[in-house]
Amino acid sequence: MSKMASTRCYVVMVLSIVVISSMMASCGANLFEDLNLTWGDNRANISNDGQLLSLSLDKASGSGFQSKKEYLFTRIDMQLKLVAGNSAGIVTAYYVSPEVATHDEIDFELLGNLSGDPYILHTNVFTQGKGNREQQFYLWFDPTADFHTYSIIWNPKHIVFMVDESPIRVFKKAESAGVPFPKKQQMRIYGSLWNADNWATRGGSVKTDWSKAPFTAYFRNFKATDLSSTVLESDKIDLKKLRWVQKNYMIYNYCQDYKKFSHGFPAECKINP
Ligand SMILES: *[C@@H]1O[C@H](CO)[C@@H](O)[C@H](O)[C@H]1NC(C)=O
Ligand SMILES: *[C@@H]1O[C@H](CO)[C@@H](O)[C@H](O)[C@H]1NC(C)=O
Ligand SMILES: *[C@@H]1O[C@H](CO)[C@@H](O)[C@H](O)[C@H]1NC(C)=O
Repeated sequence: MSKMASTRCYVVMVLSIVVISSMMASCGANLFEDLNLTWGDNRANISNDGQLLSLSLDKASGSGFQSKKEYLFTRIDMQLKLVAGNSAGIVTAYYVSPEVATHDEIDFELLGNLSGDPYILHTNVFTQGKGNREQQFYLWFDPTADFHTYSIIWNPKHIVFMVDESPIRVFKKAESAGVPFPKKQQMRIYGSLWNADNWATRGGSVKTDWSKAPFTAYFRNFKATDLSSTVLESDKIDLKKLRWVQKNYMIYNYCQDYKKFSHGFPAECKINP
């Protein structure tokens, strides 16, 4: 090896170590390793050396991904940057669900809107086939301007939905009250971008503006942390933050929907904070 070559090699090595260690410090694992692009052909893409996943939607199709692994009791973190501008009719979904068997699902759906009008963060929990547990929120930031972290903490005691480390919703295990809790089936993580202009924006009255297509949403820093044995830390809920979000940003709560449940509210409504 000539001196030139070995010097160059050394510089490259030092640079790679700096790059790799800064990546490990600030980024999640490589998305190529954790996620499979499963829908929409090249509308779904992983770029930036596995650090960024994009999903696009045009008139012909949306797109989506799923995790390679399945999880039983886990904390999922994902950063999302949503479709900017006129995103009416478009839904960015991010949820966990088992592949087969009885339907359990923990669900984030972000419902787009006309430019300048607020997105709605729609959440739902299905256990043993039973859903109808919608809660909806406005966000306290513009979800299209930058990445924000949307997390699901699913441990043997509860499910907590979080946005930027603020709990927004808690679903406690309450089997003694007859409320089933997901605890047996492993679940996969799914993400998708799709057209739902028959219901998503103001009940379907505002349609997707296809002249603005393709629409693109971005995902990064996926992280799954096993919670099957380390319950303690994930048991803590910042109730002050939870109340702040629910008081100021919750716009729909099925547990207060007297019309829908005129014959009485589901049992979990008395249990969850
Ligand atoms: C997908 O990402 C790769 C880099 O991983 C890039 O070369 C390619 O152009 C992208 N494709 C599309 C359709 O954006
Ligand atoms: C992910 O993709 C790989 C390669 O195409 C395939 O072998 C594997 O079964 C896929 N897994 C899931 C969960 O989609
Ligand atoms: C869209 O904006 C309107 C008007 O501000 C609002 O009522 C609605 O909740 C917003 N979100 C969706 C998804 O419709």
